[in-house]
Amino acid sequence: MSAVKVLFVCLGNICRSPTAHGVFQQLLETRGFDHLVQVDSAGTGDWHIGLPPDQRASASAARRGYDLSPLRARQVVAADFREYDYILAMDAQNLSNLRKLAPANFAGELQLFLHYARGVDEREVPDPYYGGLDGFDHVLDLVENAARGLLDELAVRHGLQARPL
Ligand code: 4NP
Repeated sequence: MSAVKVLFVCLGNICRSPTAHGVFQQLLETRGFDHLVQVDSAGTGDWHIGLPPDQRASASAARRGYDLSPLRARQVVAADFREYDYILAMDAQNLSNLRKLAPANFAGELQLFLHYARGVDEREVPDPYYGGLDGFDHVLDLVENAARGLLDELAVRHGLQARPL
């Protein structure tokens, strides 16, 4: 069976989407689904291409045991719409920009990531870039929640069986 491919998207690909990438990758590994689901992240903007995640995002993630250091920012490209089954946006502006970029024949799901979160009223992961450090913790809270919901949903939808842990 070919892997299910998930792309997380924010504006800069240095705060929210790399956080989602690192958190979801670790969840896949700890729950034994990493051979069945492939993850990447990208930004709709081009300002930070090639750069590592924002230091505040990396430090906040590291405090919860996630290593974002291998990640480098890239921009969404046309090929992503051929490659990915799920393209999940952090906020409504990213989603709107992705809808403009998506070809009419995009066969995957274009959706807000927090669609998969449970027990929260928020629909968007707020941009923490210009705020304080607590904003990065809030991003992590939302992302951890939605990552669990997403994996549960993918496992059901695609009949994924975890490997022995
Ligand atoms: P991200 O955060 O979209 O979560 O990576 C941002 C990063 C950079 C900027 C805005 C948001 N910026 O304006 O440079």
